[in-house]
Amino acid sequence: MKKLMVLGAGISQLPLIKTAKKMGLYVIVLSRQGDYPGFAWADKVYYEDTTDTDKVAEIARLEGIDGICTTGTDVAVKSIGKVVDEIGVSGLNYESAQLSSNKWEMKQAFMEHGVRTAKFVKVKNKEEAYAAFEVLSLPLIFKAVDSGASKGIVKVTDIEQVDYAYEKVRRDTKLDFFIVEEFIEGTEFGAQAFVYNNEIQFIMPHGDLMFYGDAGVPIGHYVPYELPDEVEQDLFSQLKQSILALQLNNCAINADFILKDEKVFVLEIGGRAGATCLPELVSTFYGFDYYEQMVRAALHMNPIFSVQSFQPCACELLLSDKEGEITELVNGNASHVDIIQISFDYNIGDKINKFRVGTDRIGQIIVKGGRLDEVMNRLNEVKGNINVQLK
Ligand SMILES: Nc1ncnc2c1ncn2[C@@H]1O[C@H](COP(=O)(O)OP(=O)(O)O)[C@@H](O)[C@H]1O
Ligand SMILES: [Mg+2]
Repeated sequence: MKKLMVLGAGISQLPLIKTAKKMGLYVIVLSRQGDYPGFAWADKVYYEDTTDTDKVAEIARLEGIDGICTTGTDVAVKSIGKVVDEIGVSGLNYESAQLSSNKWEMKQAFMEHGVRTAKFVKVKNKEEAYAAFEVLSLPLIFKAVDSGASKGIVKVTDIEQVDYAYEKVRRDTKLDFFIVEEFIEGTEFGAQAFVYNNEIQFIMPHGDLMFYGDAGVPIGHYVPYELPDEVEQDLFSQLKQSILALQLNNCAINADFILKDEKVFVLEIGGRAGATCLPELVSTFYGFDYYEQMVRAALHMNPIFSVQSFQPCACELLLSDKEGEITELVNGNASHVDIIQISFDYNIGDKINKFRVGTDRIGQIIVKGGRLDEVMNRLNEVKGNINVQLK
């Protein structure tokens, strides 16, 4: 029986773990301790920090794993690179993992390869943060380079906000520097893709539904995302250049873009699939099981990304606009072929957060339909039939 190690046991990794189990694999789950749903499905659990690259590599070697995989998070990607380099399993290498999980290194690589990205400077202290205002045009965005899920990212429209932004970013980074970049006013969207044996297997552009707090937080996605031909060509060429810049291979790709004046700016590229139901949208849109292909790629088991359809679909996170304890959780939706999933991350009695960043989600909805406008109507209807009460 082949052994697969999955990094992370959270809500994003749960479907990956379940799929690997369904495929008859021996699944080792490695994650820090916590109330994570993936543990229950594992054949074996290691309670370790997924960012501890040496520890992860040591366990991978000890277990003699056949493959390693994660999804929906950047923080575990470096450990995958380390294991790939050290024991020779399939996946992105360490250099590539490092470039794609540190926004400073990523942006430098982008510049070297002519990828269009927002102007930026590296900042080590408050003095340098103020100095950034002299070389960049407002608004700006203060950004931790080692974080994710929109944590440690603050939009700054006025020099008065420097103290707030500085403290906030400092709290969310483990490093002694961060970046300040120009804020691109435009439409945010993204793409999922996969590179296997140095060939791009598919590129699926998707629309993003955004929540605006300290920065933008993607809370939903939809496909297809129709773009004018020239913009789509620009997207493909920016993405190809980014893949070269970061040397990504044998991995899923999660790309964040902003479209401004018909030009695609690359915000960031991760060497793993997106969170927020994005793998489910890939599976629904194309008609192949994306989690299964991720696992197959990790095990060099001939992944097949064969497009069966272009099924319009969308997903959205369930969120709460206040914090509290759940007293009532009612899903008033009758089952329907176009409702693919309605799931809650919490139960009655659990405490939930007021939504600010991606990890404050309380559940998710995935729907499909004949046309995109029908899909979006269905999404809103389903959302409206869900009632969460707090005390
Ligand atoms: N230069 C920028 N211009 C406009 N918005 C930005 C910029 N950088 C980040 N954002 C906003 O902040 C969000 C999070 O930033 P991102 O770089 O994607 O980090 P992460 O998703 O890892 O937290 C983006 O989805 C976007 O809404
Ligand atoms: Mg992002």
